[in-house]
Amino acid sequence: RFAYVNGRYVRHSDAAVHVEDRGYQFADGVYEVCEVRHGLIVDLTRHLDRLDRSLREIRIAWPMTRAALISVVRELLRRNKVHNGLFYLQVTRGVARRDHVFPADGTPSSIVITARATDPRIIAAKNANGIKAITVPENRWDRVDVKTVGLLPNVLARQQAKEEGAQEAIFVDAEGCVKEGAATNVWIVDGNGTLRTRPADHGILRGITRTTLMEVAEKLELAVEERPFTVSEMLAAREVFITAATSICFPVVEVDGKVIANGHPGTTAQKLREAFFAVAE
Ligand code: PDD
Repeated sequence: RFAYVNGRYVRHSDAAVHVEDRGYQFADGVYEVCEVRHGLIVDLTRHLDRLDRSLREIRIAWPMTRAALISVVRELLRRNKVHNGLFYLQVTRGVARRDHVFPADGTPSSIVITARATDPRIIAAKNANGIKAITVPENRWDRVDVKTVGLLPNVLARQQAKEEGAQEAIFVDAEGCVKEGAATNVWIVDGNGTLRTRPADHGILRGITRTTLMEVAEKLELAVEERPFTVSEMLAAREVFITAATSICFPVVEVDGKVIANGHPGTTAQKLREAFFAVAE
């Protein structure tokens, strides 16, 4: 296996960044995770547009041109023989003596890319059986619309979910409304059959899968409302599902130990998932 680190393809086991990389010391960086299906990168343009936005929001320079980045990603996928899987890319503010303020102008940003194949059987099992989730109070900063590598609250929430026998933790705001999962967006199908997901204001990450799935829903002539919903509404929903580049559309069959609908994955999530790859680019 290979990784790409600051201009070089290196063996994955030897891939390393400097101890004074600002990503390591301050989580001063941003990232993207993209799905690879049948050799094609899913929604690449949208992911790179969001990377561009994240970089601008925290004022980090692109480490290379977009075209060069795309070639590197393709080469890394080729070297790792990833036909179905994902790649992770991270850009940080570079290496400099530890100091909270930005390093001197001209300090190059750091870039790291890894890629790996995923096991379709694990994904198929989650789709077939659904997953369990827990709710946790929102305790993150108010700029979670930026895809920063500072994910400690998400890490702790996911670990808590695991320790409670669940696979995702869902952040809930002070009003009792659902925000998003530790690494996913959350959707429900309400009693009228309408798809609902929270508006992508500054309170959540604007998921690329979320955006594409809205187009999928439109094609399938399903009603979608971007409107907040409460935990009680989620528990009473016909269906609950979560979306992310890594999971596309996983049904949630239990939240906080309470069964959703009849406890089996719903048909809407399945329809959306099946139509997804026809719409995603
Ligand atoms: N997470 N919300 C959060 C907090 C996320 O971290 C993610 C993605 C999403 C879904 O976004 P998208 O559809 O663009 O993947 C929503 C990635 C997959 C991760 O951290 O592994």
